[in-house]
Amino acid sequence: MGGTFGVDVARVGGAGRLLERERELASLDALIACAADGDGRVALVEGPAGIGKTRLMAETRRRADEAGLQGLVRMLARQMPARDAR
Ligand SMILES: Nc1ncnc2c1ncn2[C@@H]1O[C@H](COP(=O)(O)OP(=O)(O)OP(=O)(O)O)[C@@H](O)[C@H]1O
Ligand SMILES: [Mg+2]
Repeated sequence: MGGTFGVDVARVGGAGRLLERERELASLDALIACAADGDGRVALVEGPAGIGKTRLMAETRRRADEAGLQGLVRMLARQMPARDAR
Protein backbone atom coordinates (compact mmCIF):
# COMPACT_ATOMS: atom_id res chain seq x y z
CA MET A 1 0.00 0.00 0.00
CA GLY A 2 1.29 3.46 -0.83
CA GLY A 3 1.29 6.23 1.72
CA THR A 4 3.31 8.94 3.32
CA PHE A 5 4.32 8.63 6.94
CA GLY A 6 6.23 10.75 9.37
CA VAL A 7 9.12 8.69 10.72
CA ASP A 8 10.79 9.39 14.01
CA VAL A 9 14.41 8.85 13.01
CA ALA A 10 15.46 9.34 16.63
CA ARG A 11 13.90 5.97 17.40
CA VAL A 12 16.09 4.12 14.90
CA GLY A 13 18.95 2.94 17.04
CA GLY A 14 21.07 0.94 14.67
CA ALA A 15 23.35 -1.46 16.43
CA GLY A 16 26.93 -1.40 15.29
CA ARG A 17 28.97 0.96 13.21
CA LEU A 18 27.58 2.74 10.15
CA LEU A 19 29.37 1.19 7.15
CA GLU A 20 30.11 2.33 3.59
CA ARG A 21 28.06 5.50 3.42
CA GLU A 22 30.88 8.03 2.99
CA ARG A 23 29.61 9.39 -0.33
CA GLU A 24 26.02 9.78 0.87
CA LEU A 25 27.13 11.32 4.16
CA ALA A 26 29.35 13.82 2.32
CA SER A 27 26.34 14.92 0.26
CA LEU A 28 24.14 15.20 3.34
CA ASP A 29 26.88 17.01 5.29
CA ALA A 30 26.90 19.62 2.51
CA LEU A 31 23.15 20.09 2.98
CA ILE A 32 23.62 20.44 6.75
CA ALA A 33 26.20 23.16 6.06
CA CYS A 34 23.66 24.95 3.84
CA ALA A 35 21.02 24.68 6.55
CA ALA A 36 23.46 26.04 9.14
CA ASP A 37 23.79 29.09 6.85
CA GLY A 38 20.01 29.52 6.93
CA ASP A 39 19.42 27.80 3.58
CA GLY A 40 17.35 24.71 4.38
CA ARG A 41 17.29 21.89 1.86
CA VAL A 42 15.33 18.76 0.93
CA ALA A 43 17.03 15.49 0.02
CA LEU A 44 15.48 12.49 -1.74
CA VAL A 45 16.80 9.24 -0.28
CA GLU A 46 15.57 6.22 -2.19
CA GLY A 47 16.44 2.55 -2.35
CA PRO A 48 15.21 -0.98 -1.73
CA ALA A 49 13.70 -2.05 1.58
CA GLY A 50 16.33 -2.54 4.25
CA ILE A 51 19.17 -0.84 2.32
CA GLY A 52 19.67 1.67 5.14
CA LYS A 53 17.65 4.78 4.31
CA THR A 54 16.33 5.33 7.83
CA ARG A 55 19.71 4.58 9.36
CA LEU A 56 21.34 7.11 7.04
CA MET A 57 18.82 9.75 8.11
CA ALA A 58 19.36 8.90 11.77
CA GLU A 59 23.08 9.57 11.28
CA THR A 60 22.28 12.76 9.37
CA ARG A 61 20.12 13.91 12.26
CA ARG A 62 22.94 13.17 14.71
CA ARG A 63 25.32 15.24 12.60
CA ALA A 64 22.81 18.08 12.30
CA ASP A 65 22.41 18.05 16.09
CA GLU A 66 26.20 18.34 16.40
CA ALA A 67 26.13 21.31 14.00
CA GLY A 68 23.67 23.09 16.31
CA LEU A 69 20.56 22.28 14.29
CA GLN A 70 18.83 20.24 16.98
CA GLY A 71 15.55 18.73 15.93
CA LEU A 72 15.52 20.27 12.45
CA VAL A 73 15.99 17.08 10.39
CA ARG A 74 12.61 15.68 9.37
CA MET A 75 11.95 12.56 7.37
CA LEU A 76 8.88 11.68 5.34
CA ALA A 77 8.74 8.12 4.05
CA ARG A 78 6.69 6.99 1.09
CA GLN A 79 6.47 3.31 0.37
CA MET A 80 5.87 2.22 -3.20
CA PRO A 81 4.84 -1.18 -4.51
CA ALA A 82 7.81 -3.20 -5.80
CA ARG A 83 6.48 -3.00 -9.38
CA ASP A 84 7.05 0.76 -9.32
CA ALA A 85 10.68 0.38 -8.28
CA ARG A 86 13.18 1.60 -10.84
N1 LIG B 1 25.47 1.64 6.49
C1 LIG B 1 25.09 0.76 7.41
N2 LIG B 1 26.00 0.18 8.25
C2 LIG B 1 25.60 -0.72 9.18
N3 LIG B 1 24.33 -1.09 9.39
C3 LIG B 1 23.40 -0.54 8.60
C4 LIG B 1 23.72 0.40 7.58
N4 LIG B 1 22.58 0.78 6.95
C5 LIG B 1 21.60 0.10 7.56
N5 LIG B 1 22.07 -0.69 8.53
C6 LIG B 1 21.24 -1.57 9.37
O1 LIG B 1 20.41 -2.34 8.50
C7 LIG B 1 19.10 -2.42 9.01
C8 LIG B 1 18.10 -1.84 8.01
O2 LIG B 1 18.35 -0.44 7.87
P1 LIG B 1 17.15 0.62 7.70
O3 LIG B 1 16.03 0.29 8.62
O4 LIG B 1 17.77 1.97 7.82
O5 LIG B 1 16.70 0.34 6.19
P2 LIG B 1 15.58 1.11 5.35
O6 LIG B 1 16.14 1.33 3.98
O7 LIG B 1 15.10 2.31 6.07
O8 LIG B 1 14.45 0.00 5.30
P3 LIG B 1 12.88 0.20 4.92
O9 LIG B 1 12.81 0.40 3.43
O10 LIG B 1 12.28 -1.11 5.34
O11 LIG B 1 12.39 1.38 5.70
C9 LIG B 1 19.12 -1.71 10.36
O12 LIG B 1 19.37 -2.66 11.37
C10 LIG B 1 20.29 -0.75 10.23
O13 LIG B 1 20.86 -0.40 11.48
MG1 LIG C 1 13.20 2.89 6.71
